[in-house]
Amino acid sequence: MQNLRELPHFILTDNVNLRVSSLPGTPAVTRWQPVPHFGMTRPSLILISGEQWALSVDVGPATELMIAFGRALRRISSDGLYLLIRAAHAEIIRVHVTNDDAAELREIRIGLGYLTPGRTDVVISVDPGPKGDPSADWLAISELVIGPRQDIPLLRARAFHDLRVRNEINHFESVYDHKLFDGRKRQIQSATATRLASKNPKATVEPQPDISTMQPLDGEDVFHFAHRMLSHGIRGKAPNFHQRLADLAAHGDLRIASFCAGAAQVEAALIRSTDKPVHLTLVDINQGLLNQAAAAMPEHCTVQTVVQDVNSLSLGAEEFDVAIFVSGVHHVVELEHVWREIQNALRPGGEVWLIGEQVGKNGNRLDSEALTEANRVFRMLPERFRRNALTSEIDWEISNKDCAEATFEGIRSEDIESTLGRHFLPIDVYKRNCFLWRLTNQVYFDNYDLSREEDVQAAKSLVSAELDYFFSGGRPTELHGIYRRNG
Ligand SMILES: C[S@@+](CC[C@H](N)C(=O)[O-])C[C@H]1O[C@@H](n2cnc3c(N)ncnc32)[C@H](O)[C@@H]1O
Repeated sequence: MQNLRELPHFILTDNVNLRVSSLPGTPAVTRWQPVPHFGMTRPSLILISGEQWALSVDVGPATELMIAFGRALRRISSDGLYLLIRAAHAEIIRVHVTNDDAAELREIRIGLGYLTPGRTDVVISVDPGPKGDPSADWLAISELVIGPRQDIPLLRARAFHDLRVRNEINHFESVYDHKLFDGRKRQIQSATATRLASKNPKATVEPQPDISTMQPLDGEDVFHFAHRMLSHGIRGKAPNFHQRLADLAAHGDLRIASFCAGAAQVEAALIRSTDKPVHLTLVDINQGLLNQAAAAMPEHCTVQTVVQDVNSLSLGAEEFDVAIFVSGVHHVVELEHVWREIQNALRPGGEVWLIGEQVGKNGNRLDSEALTEANRVFRMLPERFRRNALTSEIDWEISNKDCAEATFEGIRSEDIESTLGRHFLPIDVYKRNCFLWRLTNQVYFDNYDLSREEDVQAAKSLVSAELDYFFSGGRPTELHGIYRRNG
């Protein structure tokens, strides 16, 4: 397969070297700024009327240019501004941006395949609108990639890499302090311990298991209560990773690598399933989390921590028996590279374990059908369950923001299973959770007091809706699976 890194392309990032020229008298501007009305935290590139930005790219028959842009200011001049794109000295597009545009952020893709193949100058400029008024004509470009048509999504995922790394490190410094994660170990155990003894071929026509009599456990929060009910309501169970680890360890020293391991709480719990020696390699970009992980491992486990960006992994051959990701693959951009490295690094028969992976829509969003259903159920809740902890507002709809906008959250979730399937065979795969997590996570978590019957019933209404939707063909977003090396 062609190495995608070597394909000719241009990717706009906030540390790219820009060649911007201005007409005399054009005021200086801070080049990178957040644009609040885009609803994004990532800064955009600002160009103002009279400025032009020149870049030079290789084009071929399949080359496309993708640009996302909009007004940088809430109000620009009353005649708007023009975004002009020229390639090989000819205008290829002129877009009128006005105060009345329906969308704050517009996205266009332009084929450049008709140009003579080879190095080509592309110039992006901002001109005043039809009446020539340049005042406040500021344009914001939030994304620009140029490359082979089929690679445009991957090039977009590669953009702003350093910014995303910085934000990931900052975000995960504190995210696990939330009480949502106190009950984490219990959830892992409930998802794995109640495995069915045998698979019933008639399972799909059995009535749905009853959740009406279930009650919260002592100290259980709404997220874990809801997900325990969900496990109960779904036929089939997640792979029993604890049992599997104990079985593998019984055959001799077990060598495990965990990627995007963070504080590796789940790995520590799994390794306690055996008292046999385990050699564990933990990889993450966050040194602080890896230090916490190493300090909390049981004594029969030797730990090596590696601070590394998994996107540039380079592993030796046949080093490991098991490669684990706990909620980590949805942070990976270079999936194709990572799976190839891991395939090579596993011994024959070696396994990949995905535990709690997000395989829904990119950016940890819900697809439109699931979002509609989630909002329908959500709106039926009394107001006090709809208070948003981030905004303190009462929500009418749940947010469906692209979480990958400034981090790696769900950056290529939609490609996880297809890329994995090229190198590994599924052995035991379990999927669930079409939208329940979005209604019970940190945003609404504090609204529930499970000592109150009304709150227990509210949680049950969400789980019932989730189960109905799932059994009617809804797309699950959470995956737990064991895969074996292909060959
Ligand atoms: C959702 S957390 C999961 C952490 C841990 N596995 C757990 O379940 O607690 C994602 C982890 O991926 C790490 N991460 C994100 N991007 C990474 C990258 N490019 N290379 C290595 N680790 C990365 C983050 O630092 C974070 O620890």
